[in-house]
Amino acid sequence: MKKLIVGNWKMNQTLPLAKAFFADLKTVELEHEAWIAPQAFHVTACLQMAPEGIWIGAQNVSNEEHGAFTGENSPFSLRELGGKFVIIGHSERRQLFNETNAQLALKVRKSLSLGLAVIYCVGETLAEREQNKTFEVIKTQLNDGLKDLGDYNPDNLIVAYEPVWAIGTGKVATPAQAQEVHSAIREQLGSKTTLLYGGSVKPDNASELLKQKDIDGALVGGASLKPSDFIALCQAPV
Ligand code: PGA
Repeated sequence: MKKLIVGNWKMNQTLPLAKAFFADLKTVELEHEAWIAPQAFHVTACLQMAPEGIWIGAQNVSNEEHGAFTGENSPFSLRELGGKFVIIGHSERRQLFNETNAQLALKVRKSLSLGLAVIYCVGETLAEREQNKTFEVIKTQLNDGLKDLGDYNPDNLIVAYEPVWAIGTGKVATPAQAQEVHSAIREQLGSKTTLLYGGSVKPDNASELLKQKDIDGALVGGASLKPSDFIALCQAPV
């Protein structure tokens, strides 16, 4: 069964590295669907360099389309360029840039209304997990961040479960831990929503995670930067 592998490049990759990455991707037929979110300044170049079928998107957008918002990036302009999706509410945006569920709800709503696919990220910190608050935290992030969404195509809403303690730490959630949370999210949102797991996904642990019943794909940081790793993830047996 085809899964969805999304590379979140964060503020990494140079243009020559991105060019080499896509050149390598062009040499293979990928088993799973692959999307890449480069930094905003690289979206146009990546749209030109990516092989056909690989969607390019953004790591964040404004909740406004146009206007006096110096320094913001419009989801309208992303769509105009040919960008197809946006990651919203990554834990780095929540923690480093203080984005709240209420602000994220506005971004999700605006992006969905423009026909962009949205990857809405949720996840608990280590302290919250240790206090047995995982399910409560995620329920609130879903309730408050996916509020008043208006009319949208349900296929465009994707949720990524990324335990904060697993992001960039090498400490991956066990397949059972991930499945447990995914199944609770599925129960809350219904079967339509595509659910990705994120947090230290690597070629050597991807298959076991992707084999879980409620894991439809992966959101990958570190292992999405090197073409050989990313290709291995996109070929992971499931
Ligand atoms: P990681 O990052 O794969 O490097 O842990 C995941 C993410 O931040 O989405």
